[in-house]
Amino acid sequence: MSVKDSVLKALEAGKGGFISGEALSDSLGVSRTAVWKAIKLLREEGYPIESSTNRGYMLMQSSWLITEESLRTYLPAPYKGNDIYIYDSLESTNLEAKQTALEGGAHGTVVMARRQTKGRGRLGRSFFSPDEGIYISVILRPALDISKSLPATLAAAVAVAESIEEVCGKEALIKWVNDIYVDGKKVCGILTEGITDFETGSVDSLITGIGINTTVKDFPEELLDTVGAVTGSYSKSALAASVISKLLDFTEDLDNRAFMKAYREKCLVLGKTVNVYRGAYKVDPQKESKGVPARVLDITDDGGLVVLYSNGSQEVLTTGEISIRLK
Ligand code: BTN
Repeated sequence: MSVKDSVLKALEAGKGGFISGEALSDSLGVSRTAVWKAIKLLREEGYPIESSTNRGYMLMQSSWLITEESLRTYLPAPYKGNDIYIYDSLESTNLEAKQTALEGGAHGTVVMARRQTKGRGRLGRSFFSPDEGIYISVILRPALDISKSLPATLAAAVAVAESIEEVCGKEALIKWVNDIYVDGKKVCGILTEGITDFETGSVDSLITGIGINTTVKDFPEELLDTVGAVTGSYSKSALAASVISKLLDFTEDLDNRAFMKAYREKCLVLGKTVNVYRGAYKVDPQKESKGVPARVLDITDDGGLVVLYSNGSQEVLTTGEISIRLK
C-alpha cells in the first residue's frame, strides 16, 4: 500500500479527530515529509483534511466522498485493478453500466455516482437517490444464462448485509428478495438487470445495481415510515469496497450457492406471515391487487420463497411480478 493510501486509511480510522504528523510517521514507518506529501496529494484529490500546528491532521467528519483512489485503497488485491468509473451525477448507474457493458466493459467493472436523477428500482419503480447515498453498479460476466440473475441478486443482498455489519457495526437483515433492513427500515435496494445477446438468445452480462441510503435528510416525508439509512461514523469507501469485493467473490461461481446459508440466516421473513402481491402492482399502485397472507416456510437454493397459504396449499414464489410485505 502506498504512503498516501496508508495515511488515508489511518485518517479514515480516526475520522473527526486529530492525529499528529509524528504519530502518523511513527505508526507507518515513514518520514514526516512523506506524510506531508501524502496529505497534499489527498487534498488535491478532494479530501477535506484540516491541519493544526499543534494537533496534526484531521479528516473532516463530513468526508463522505468516495473517490476512485479511496475505493481502490479498500478493495482487496484481486479487485484493486478493476475498471472503476465514479461520476458526480448520473441518471442511473445501472443505465451507464449497461452502456459500458455494451461497449465491452469487463467483468467486475464498477460504475458509481454521488447522486442519481432517475434511479431505477424493481418492478418499474423509481429509486430516490439524493446526494450522499452510495450508488453502485457492477458488471458481471459469469458464464451466464438468465437463470443466474436471481442468484446474483441474492449474492448482492448477502454482500451488502455482511458489509454493513462488518464495516458499520449494525445488524442488517434481508427482506426477500433483495431489500436490506437496519433497525426495521429499508436502507438498501438492489436491482439486477440482464443484457441479452439477441442473436444467440443468451445473456451477455448482468448489471447488479445497489443503492444504500446513508442519510434520510432529503427524503420525502411519505417515505420516512419505511425508509432508513446506514448512519454513524464509518468510511463510505470501505463500505462500498466491501460490498463490491464480496459480490465479486460470491459471483465467481454462481452455481456454488454457499452464500445461501448466510442469506437464510439473515432473512427477515423466514417463519413469518407476509402478504403476497402480484400483477398490476408493478405499474399502477392504484390497481394494486389485494395481498394474500401466507406463511414463509423456506427459501430454496435458487432463491424461491416457499410459502403456505391458509387453505393449506404451498407455492414457490420466484420474484418477477411478485412482491411481499411484512404483515
Ligand atoms: C429497489 O429497491 O427497488 C431496487 C433499487 C436499486 C437501486 C440501485 S441504485 C444503483 C443502481 N442504479 C439504479 O438506477 N438502480 C440501482
